[in-house]
Amino acid sequence: MNFHILTLFPEMVMNGLNTSIIGRAVNAGHLSIEAVNIRDYAFNKHQSVDDYPYGGGAGMLMQAEPVYLAHKAVAEMIQTRMRGSAQCEAQPSGERENSPTGSRLRTVYLSPQGQVFNQKMAEELAREEDLILLCGHYEGIDERVLEEIVTDYVSIGDYVLTGGELPAMVMVDAISRLVPGVLHNDVSAEFESFQDNLLEYPQYSRPEEWHGRKVPPVLLSGHHANIEKWRREQSIIRTYERRPDLLEKCELTEKEKKWFREWLEENM
Ligand code: ADE
Repeated sequence: MNFHILTLFPEMVMNGLNTSIIGRAVNAGHLSIEAVNIRDYAFNKHQSVDDYPYGGGAGMLMQAEPVYLAHKAVAEMIQTRMRGSAQCEAQPSGERENSPTGSRLRTVYLSPQGQVFNQKMAEELAREEDLILLCGHYEGIDERVLEEIVTDYVSIGDYVLTGGELPAMVMVDAISRLVPGVLHNDVSAEFESFQDNLLEYPQYSRPEEWHGRKVPPVLLSGHHANIEKWRREQSIIRTYERRPDLLEKCELTEKEKKWFREWLEENM
C-alpha cells in the first residue's frame, strides 16, 4: 500500500513514521510513504502558500492552487505507475484505462469537521492501493480545491489540533498494521481491541507471580478451550466496565448472554 501525504511539514511526518514497525514495513517493501511538500508547488517567488480569507476573519487560509498542483503531481505519478504495471501484466489496454483516475483517487482531508476515524474505517481504507492524505494548517484550506480533490473528510476525535500531520500519522499507523505482512503475526491484527466491538482480554507474561499478583491459573492450565472461554468472558467484562457503549453493538451468543446475566447478578 502506498501513502502520499500532502503537507507543509514533510519532515515531521517522515520522522514520525520511519521507526519501529512502520519503518520496518517500509524497508521490507510492504508499504511506501512519501511526504509531498505543498510549498514546492507555490506559484509565487516567495513560496508563500497562504493568504487572507475573503470576507475577513482571523488567521490565514491555505490557497487552492499549490494544494491542487501537489495533488495533481501525485495523481499523475500514480497513473503512470498503474499504466506501467498494466502493461507488464499484459492486460487488454482498454480494461484499466479508466482506473485509478477514472474513479476518483481516494483523497482524505484531515479535519475536525470530518467523520470520526475508527477501526472499521481503517479496515476499509487498508484495501486501497494508494491513499492520499491532505494535511491542512492555519485556518484551513480554500473550499474550492477541497471540492475538486477530496473524497473523504476524516477527524481523529472531537478536539482541535494545530494541523493535520498528527492525524495523518495516526491514520497511517492504524491502516498500515492491517496491511498483510506488516505485522509478523497475522492473527494479532485479527483478534484485538474493537474486533467484534469487544475490547481485548488482559494478558500476562513471566513471572507467574509479581508484587503478590498471580497469573490467572486457567492460563497456566494448557487447556485451550478453557483459555479461550476465559478470554472471551474477560473481554465481555472489560468492555462492560470500560466501554459500555461498545457492548451494546456486540453480538453475544445466547450462552454468553446467560453467563453475563449471572456474572452481573454476582458482581453488581
Ligand atoms: N486537524 C485539526 N484537528 C484535527 C482533528 N481532530 N482531526 C483531524 N484533523 C484535524
